[in-house]
Amino acid sequence: MRRALVIGAGGQIGTELTTRLAKELGGLNVVASDLNAPKISENTAILSLNLDVLDQVRLRQIVVDHEISEIYHLAATLSATAEKNPGFSWHLNMQSLLNILDLAKEGLIQKVFWPSSVAVFGPGSPKSNTPQNAFMNPNTVYGISKSAGENWCNYYFEKYNVDVRSLRFPGLLGYKSDPGGGTTDYALWALKNAAHDTPYISFLENNSGLPMMHMEDAINGIIKLMNAKSEQVKVRTAYNISSASFTPEELEKEIQKFKPAFEISYQSDFRQAIANSWPDSLDDSEARLDWDWNPKYNFSSMVENILEGFKKTSDPN
Ligand code: SER
Repeated sequence: MRRALVIGAGGQIGTELTTRLAKELGGLNVVASDLNAPKISENTAILSLNLDVLDQVRLRQIVVDHEISEIYHLAATLSATAEKNPGFSWHLNMQSLLNILDLAKEGLIQKVFWPSSVAVFGPGSPKSNTPQNAFMNPNTVYGISKSAGENWCNYYFEKYNVDVRSLRFPGLLGYKSDPGGGTTDYALWALKNAAHDTPYISFLENNSGLPMMHMEDAINGIIKLMNAKSEQVKVRTAYNISSASFTPEELEKEIQKFKPAFEISYQSDFRQAIANSWPDSLDDSEARLDWDWNPKYNFSSMVENILEGFKKTSDPN
């Protein structure tokens, strides 16, 4: 019997993953948690709890009380937020992962999903079609914590046989929840503004290319990776996955196909340096080969679908 605990269920990925897991496992087999118990709109059978992931005693209690077999650990400070509070971000991003890996080491849970990021790469990494095993010199706190986290995952797998699985996510774009403090967030705000006929001021320069993905593909990727047989999961740090890559100016042009009056103006800030240090696309051939990663959306279909989705939401904020 599979029972899942989602940590960070109120966040950008968590909101959509929680309802998807309820469809996969049944709402009664999903427990959603966040610092404040998240509001569950689509499936009321899901139990919602408050949990500070750094509180190991409560974490263990929840796992035992609800007979959790797998954890999806999504709580973290993202790249831009982490730069404002490096010490705390390092502690949160690392200690929370170790707390969960230790529960798996003890055998209390059987599987862990933890997201990594394109932020593991740095200014010395190849910029385009970055290989799975490219040189990494991340220069953000977020990137350093993701890169160290990947190595901890691999360590727990090698040493203690912990079944932990991870993906290097690019910027994730969906219309069901707002982004939470990342460098790639500009794209989602641009799409949301466009859907509500409002111009957008980008905090990244016009020619700043970054990898992006539709949230639906990201969620499908998590489900597919977690459903794969253990022997298919050959990479135990984190898999490169990829679908689209574009600059703010390319995004503006694509949006104008549906919203001709939409315009982006530019006022870059500290997030530009973060974007400059990241690849604009990743080579995801190992994920395709090992467990059949295959995204549904490309750049144009992603933009069209997200604009459509936002049109249905009436709140312009
Ligand atoms: N979307 C994330 C960020 O910008 C990248 O993992 O921080």
